[in-house]
Amino acid sequence: MPTEKTEAHKSIGVFDSGLGGLTVLKEIHRVLPQENLVYFGDTARVPYGNKSSATIIRYSKEIAEFLIQRDVKAIVVACNTASSYALDALKQMTSIPVLGVIDPAVGALAQRAKKQSAAGLIATKSTIHSGAYDAALKRHHGEQFLVSRACPLLVPVIEEGFIDSPITEEILRIYLQPMVDEGIEYLLLGCTHYPLIARVIVRLYPHLKLIDSAEETAATLKNLLTQMQLLNTAPQGRIELYVSDMTESMRELKELFFQNSVDRFEVVKITND
Ligand code: DGL
Repeated sequence: MPTEKTEAHKSIGVFDSGLGGLTVLKEIHRVLPQENLVYFGDTARVPYGNKSSATIIRYSKEIAEFLIQRDVKAIVVACNTASSYALDALKQMTSIPVLGVIDPAVGALAQRAKKQSAAGLIATKSTIHSGAYDAALKRHHGEQFLVSRACPLLVPVIEEGFIDSPITEEILRIYLQPMVDEGIEYLLLGCTHYPLIARVIVRLYPHLKLIDSAEETAATLKNLLTQMQLLNTAPQGRIELYVSDMTESMRELKELFFQNSVDRFEVVKITND
């Protein structure tokens, strides 16, 4: 059918408050290499994790508008904070699928972990305060026990490029040790920045089973596009990266994750702020 073919060739829009969503983009590119991807990182306004719900919704809608104008076939909200507050508002803006990162991760926990086992959740302040993970666990009929902890220092540290450093280790110990003492077995990385420091977490607490929303979201997206017959069959997809501010850490992570496979990397102004 010609319409389906045209739809399938459209890009997938992905966004985050900054560079964290690149962990999701990288995973989407790994499982769906034929898809065209358009990423927006709001590097001028990061972090979102300490902002009010009204501001998070407004920023998310502005970015979704930018992606919709680029005629994307689906939007992945590669930010837990935006997924916590803005998913419903974004779904109301468009008829294309809008996928957040929380449901895929919680679905994986509900399936993999034994009932009544304890799972830690680390995320931004706003994500924790939203209760979005507890609500998602109920939707998935998960009976695991969530021990939640807001970790406001992690996003700035990661955005500044402190990935594997003593300061990151120390902050992680302060945040995670009390949860480990409570006997958590799983750890939900409830912020898309956190997969960047996953290896440090594994080194400090090798017994924890990490659930990374990037992997789970990419797998969910693949299933969704398959069901909707929206999979692109082109040989190799294009990657376009847009940011609201060109930062050094964004440049570095782009190089680390995608080397020469990015077709466009530009600053765009999406608002008059
Ligand atoms: N990557 C965003 C998230 O998943 C970072 C939040 C922030 O900007 O504070 O929540």
